[in-house]
Amino acid sequence: TWTTTSVIEEQVELIREQIGEHRAICGLSGGVDSAVAAALVQRAVGDQLTCVYVNHGLMRQDESEEIEKAFGAATGGARLIMVDAEDVFLEALAGVTDPEAKRKIIGEKFIRTFEKAQADIIAESRHDPDAKDVKFLVQGTLYPDVVESGGGEGTANIKSHHNVGGLPEDIEFELVEPLRALFKDEVRAVGSELGLPDEIVWRQPFPGPGLGIRIIGEVTRERLDLLRQADAIVRAELTAAGLDRHIWQCPVVLLADVRSVGVQGDGRTYGHPVVLRPVTSEDAMTADWAQLPYDLLSRISNRITNEVDGINRVVLDVTSKPPGTIEWE
Ligand code: XMP
Repeated sequence: TWTTTSVIEEQVELIREQIGEHRAICGLSGGVDSAVAAALVQRAVGDQLTCVYVNHGLMRQDESEEIEKAFGAATGGARLIMVDAEDVFLEALAGVTDPEAKRKIIGEKFIRTFEKAQADIIAESRHDPDAKDVKFLVQGTLYPDVVESGGGEGTANIKSHHNVGGLPEDIEFELVEPLRALFKDEVRAVGSELGLPDEIVWRQPFPGPGLGIRIIGEVTRERLDLLRQADAIVRAELTAAGLDRHIWQCPVVLLADVRSVGVQGDGRTYGHPVVLRPVTSEDAMTADWAQLPYDLLSRISNRITNEVDGINRVVLDVTSKPPGTIEWE
């Protein structure tokens, strides 16, 4: 029978067998999945693991700093490399509007960035005759990621999750995916048992492709800045209302190619709308739109339209999954 302890023991054993004497890198996104995957691998092979956090420029406000801070406690002291790849990702995304194209580009750039980190790690240890290959890449892939990327038998490709269907074909790493059979609630239980801090274990899901798939239209720095400001307000208000654990997540989506006329102060505005997408869910395979209190919605709406120059309308997504997916792209 399934217990958190038995899953941990079994996975640690399997990871040891798979990695052997080699070295591994783990892509950390700041979310619970990759943190738990890293903690398991750290427990299994210790300092054969190096974690790599890629700032792709599609993160939310202050997120990179928060992740760096929370990291030590989350992984039991694994080594961390921070890579700033904002220019690489944003240049590759220039002019791209198709959701699957964005996902494939982001998935590919992640792998290319990990390959570069791999080369750096190898170069660092070039004077050590006993240094082992860095041939494994640890990912926090969950069961629903596999299913929705069309990886399960008889399943359609709904969208290519960046760490499954979004991977390039010429990938040279061998993958280590200790969470591939688990759902999010199980991953959280494993994370708690491994001693990860609550701020990581209870972090709301955030997709690997980040804000890149929450801007409908081309992704630019300017648009990212707009969305980051609106998103920070929504997260702060949800936390202040004590609702973080009641909802599954609340994406904020920028309709970057849509503009509408507004009036503010004594002038006309012609700005963009953002969509609030609060949902409740058990495992993200299905979801209900979350019925947030009206006073909270009203505070969020007032704050965004007053504080974010360029956004003049806030709309609420009241679609469940199915028929909608949680993210818009
Ligand atoms: P959808 O939009 O498919 O999302 O209903 C289901 C859950 O998965 C998250 N999501 C992703 N997570 N890489 C991830 O790590 C991805 O490419 C990705 N796409 C969606 C989404 O935030 C939701 O929790």
